[in-house]
Amino acid sequence: MLIRLISDIHSNFQALEAVLTDPPGKEADRTFCLGDIVGYGADPSLCIERVRRECDLVVAGNHDAGAAKRVSLDRFNWEGVTAIRWTRSVLSKDEMDWISLLPYHSEHKNFFLCHSYPADPESWTYLLRRNHALESISVRQGFISLIGHTHLPGCWTEDGNYIESSKGDFSNVRIVNVGSVGQPRDRDPRAAYVLIDTEARTWEHFRVEYSIDDTAARIKDAGLPSVLWERLYRGH
Ligand SMILES: [Fe+2]
Repeated sequence: MLIRLISDIHSNFQALEAVLTDPPGKEADRTFCLGDIVGYGADPSLCIERVRRECDLVVAGNHDAGAAKRVSLDRFNWEGVTAIRWTRSVLSKDEMDWISLLPYHSEHKNFFLCHSYPADPESWTYLLRRNHALESISVRQGFISLIGHTHLPGCWTEDGNYIESSKGDFSNVRIVNVGSVGQPRDRDPRAAYVLIDTEARTWEHFRVEYSIDDTAARIKDAGLPSVLWERLYRGH
């Protein structure tokens, strides 16, 4: 089975469409979303509608939880708070109800899915350090964790080491960060996603071009802070 993993869409509909139709001619059997559907960008409703239709499993990210008033806005920076308040103002009641009910973690076979930190999903810890990787691997024994949140694609091995390879197998990898669809921060502005082949037990990171100009124009038109469209071009 081929599973597409997407995360951190951040209301960027053009990037979402690009990853859902890539690679050309290759259909994923399932698509799982690891959260942050909304926040930062100008198309939260379009992204929610597409994720609801396309994804077989969806977990909440911190921006989804912020928009749904499940976590305090004290935890976000200024532009994040501005975008979350704007997002609340444009979502329908049905859309708010849907993001309010998203689980913070989920499982599929031996995969553990959450937005940020497998050891404690609701802490919203950024998994960037070896001790956090080892803690997560220890808490989720027997599972391969699939995460987003840092917007940095990569993998962590059984012994807590970070590897940046774009593809590999699961013989030694215990955590996969799928990167960000709509707000990459690894200096590559292209939309990121992952494909997993459950029979071959392999994973591969992919990048896709999309029209950043169109997304930037949408954010400008919405009156959101300029940093939210400027950084799309830098990928940082
Ligand atoms: Fe995010």
